[in-house]
Amino acid sequence: MCNFDKFFVVMLVATAILFNSVSADPELLQDVCVADLTSGVKINGFACKENFTADDFFFAGLSRPGLTNNKFGSLVTAANVQMIPGLNTLGVSLSRIDFAPGGLNPPHTHPRATEIAFLLYGELEVGFITTTNTLYTKTIKTGEIFVFPRGLVHFQKNNGRVPAAAIVAFSSQLPGTQSIGATLFSAVPPVPDYVLAQAFQVGPQDVQRIKSGFASK
Ligand SMILES: *[C@@H]1O[C@H](CO)[C@@H](O)[C@H](O)[C@H]1NC(C)=O
Repeated sequence: MCNFDKFFVVMLVATAILFNSVSADPELLQDVCVADLTSGVKINGFACKENFTADDFFFAGLSRPGLTNNKFGSLVTAANVQMIPGLNTLGVSLSRIDFAPGGLNPPHTHPRATEIAFLLYGELEVGFITTTNTLYTKTIKTGEIFVFPRGLVHFQKNNGRVPAAAIVAFSSQLPGTQSIGATLFSAVPPVPDYVLAQAFQVGPQDVQRIKSGFASK
């Protein structure tokens, strides 16, 4: 290998290490930039508040189980920059997910974050699907951890007879969620039936049946 080639390989490796070591959110340029959630200024993230207090870094919303009496039997309670303005530009956030017996957190993606889940109690069947359509799945118990790589479709299902709950951490202050079913079947304005029928290789009546399921409470 000539010197130039060696230099090129070293630069490539250094770049790879650099990009792997940073979070999904951009790098921090000051100690704090507490989000001014009321500012009309549109930037990547939120404008910084002039003054802030300890309460801008505090949130008690994950201390109790969320209500799971909905059609999926699960509830995600977010603790992101919208609830904790102090998280602005810091590249992390949490959620709590509660599951009734049989509850499902339906297949979804987080476009801006890797997720690492810690099971508080109960048991969950968890899984993600890669871009080559391979499913990686496992059943995790209290105190165990599972990771959902950034952007990949994933789900969590409580097959047990008792409730389950997880604390999940994200490599983003605002990971964003696209729930596959809701995104496709309850978008406003609606995705045309003929698009969904062709995409899923079913008839328009099948599409309407699925759409009505998402419309009902
Ligand atoms: C921030 O604090 C300074 C000093 O106490 C005060 O003069 C200023 O008006 C405050 N700004 C806002 C937006 O409250």
